[in-house]
Amino acid sequence: MRALILVGGYGTRLRPLTLSTPKPLVEFCNKALLLHQLEALRQAGVSHVVLAVSYMSEVLEAAMREQEQRLGIRISLSHEKEPLGTAGPLALARDLLAEDGEPFFVLNSDVICEFPFTALACFHRHHGGEGSLVVTRVEEPAKYGVVVSEPETGRICRFVEKPRVFVSNKINAGLYIFSPGILRRIQLRPTSIEKEIFPAMAQEGQLYAMELQGFWMDIGQPKDFLTGMCMYLQALRAQHPERLHSGPGIVGNVLVDPSAKIGANCIIGPNVTIGAGVVVEDGVRIKRCTVLKGARIRSHSWLESCIVGWSCSVGQWVRMENVTVLGEDVIVNDELYLNGANVLPHKSIAESVPEPRIIM
Ligand code: GDD
Ligand code: MG
Repeated sequence: MRALILVGGYGTRLRPLTLSTPKPLVEFCNKALLLHQLEALRQAGVSHVVLAVSYMSEVLEAAMREQEQRLGIRISLSHEKEPLGTAGPLALARDLLAEDGEPFFVLNSDVICEFPFTALACFHRHHGGEGSLVVTRVEEPAKYGVVVSEPETGRICRFVEKPRVFVSNKINAGLYIFSPGILRRIQLRPTSIEKEIFPAMAQEGQLYAMELQGFWMDIGQPKDFLTGMCMYLQALRAQHPERLHSGPGIVGNVLVDPSAKIGANCIIGPNVTIGAGVVVEDGVRIKRCTVLKGARIRSHSWLESCIVGWSCSVGQWVRMENVTVLGEDVIVNDELYLNGANVLPHKSIAESVPEPRIIM
């Protein structure tokens, strides 16, 4: 089977991380975002993945060549000259997607869950319609595409993207499977699959919804990235508790790369991910944070709800909180307070940031 992943643009909402690394390669729970999806697709029998990108990235290309080798699948990049939205990329990759006449998967690149690809393919073949979406329930449906479907069959009668008034709390999880027939609906021009294609398919009774079991999150923004991390670690606790870290000073669900070093008298957790080569010095307190590869947190610092970028250095007695995000290679001087700071790569911070803002 084949799959297309909508990788899209520059990942502006995940800045400053995406200023140095393409969004799909940002590590989520110590694994590149895209790898979570690629591995799940391969598991479901996908042998060829098309990455739909609207920008050129040599870093991404090189990383994909490496993953092709590792996973034994084919990965092609489909470059758009102008952003084609969420449907246009299917028209651009039409030949690849339709070649084998089989249904193919389409994914938003910024969603995380226990990917139900095998079940989705089964569901799709069973109802015989043109498309199937995975749906999940959320508390704030207005941020998403909302679905109204028949409870028994799953047939979708309405699809409304980002509704202004309440329609339902069942939303599009950004994971689809389509029969090649869908391609005749899509032209090679910028098109929104959610606004232009799905409503028409729903009206014709060609679109079906399969409910997701377990957690789901769109992690395309720092705040949601951290929430998604908490959910993922909780699911890991249930399924692979041996992958989580334990020991003195470790509280709740904590994921630590084996090459990271944690000093004496630290309290780490709950909900912390520590990347490869990270050094946490003595007496540090970290909760609800992701610390990316190669960062150093110096002694007696206190971090809550932060993302610390690659190779950053956080000084002694620093306090950071409220979705502070440090880009790559940021230096935070000793004894500072950062509240909701968003710091661009390679900056050196010498003064506290008492209110949320971007530091450039
Ligand atoms: N190749 C390509 N070209 N990809 C694109 C383009 C484009 O022009 N525009 C967006 N994408 C990719 C994004 O990178 C992302 O992976 C996906 O398409 C969806 O775009 P977002 O910008 O993240 O949309 P959203 O989060 O507001 O809403 C979408 O996702 C929700 C679930 O998270 C919609 O599909 C909603 O219906 C859905 O509920
Ligand atoms: Mg999104």
